Amino acid sequence: MAIKLVTTVAELRAEGALLLGLKQGTSQGLVPTMGALHEGHAALARAAVEQNDVVVATIFVNPLQFGDAVDLDRYPRTLDADLALLEEQGVDLVFAPSVEEVYPGGQPLVRVTSGQLGEKWEGASRPGHFDGALTVVAKLLHYGLPAAGLPAAPGGLPAYRAYFGQKDAQQLALVRRMVADLNFPVDIVGVPTVRAADGLALSSRNRFLSDDEREAALVLSRALRLLEQRATAREPLDVESASALVESQPLVALDYFEVVDPETLEPLAENCRETPFRGEALALIAAKVGPVRLIDNVPLSS
Ligand code: PAF
Repeated sequence: MAIKLVTTVAELRAEGALLLGLKQGTSQGLVPTMGALHEGHAALARAAVEQNDVVVATIFVNPLQFGDAVDLDRYPRTLDADLALLEEQGVDLVFAPSVEEVYPGGQPLVRVTSGQLGEKWEGASRPGHFDGALTVVAKLLHYGLPAAGLPAAPGGLPAYRAYFGQKDAQQLALVRRMVADLNFPVDIVGVPTVRAADGLALSSRNRFLSDDEREAALVLSRALRLLEQRATAREPLDVESASALVESQPLVALDYFEVVDPETLEPLAENCRETPFRGEALALIAAKVGPVRLIDNVPLSS
């Protein structure tokens, strides 16, 4: 079936319900994006298509999560290419609303606050970013609720899943926390980071790197890989040597590099720098490479 584009919430609900009815669907997947899609988004869409009868993707550049009007203006808008990529993965419906459709009264008075979890790491250098992101994710999850207007399916309400990349580890942790704390009826699925062959995590921002900066940026994934190898070998993590590797690269300004609990994102309580690593953790890194801020992470497990 050809992909369908809608721009209003009313159309989204009507078309979503129609598709579920037509396909006698028992599950719906939602893939929220800001467009400028790449292979990382394709992986989200593919996971959603594999696991659900009906899949809706959203494309909305959310002004609320940009601190800087220049960043917002410069965010790439590539709707035709995005639709082609989503269609190729088998997505059924795309919701690409205007700012007025999402925020009809202008800036919303009541918002989701991300609390302490949203103030650290990325939140420390982008104040208000996660409140803005969570507020729009809450709205998108509500818009995409399956079967609004359908008679109850024989087995109950259709399953509802939403897909987020593990690359944005803090966003994913916050969305999981919002859904748990505020009882949203949706399962959040984290999809592993997609990397270029040389290890660079795919990001819409990579297009702003010069060739030299792109080459320099590889040090982020190399440093993470060092920690991953140590964790797998159950050795002390030696974050200092991995940080020194990053800091040896003149085009890269390291912001943070830390091993944290995957849910709370608090630095690990036990000393994994001197004693062998055991358990589950996340290694988070952020750096400016030339003018571009990049983030990356790897799950650590042993
Ligand atoms: O990760 C993104 O692309 C955005 O933060 C999201 C989740 C679509 C909300 O605007």
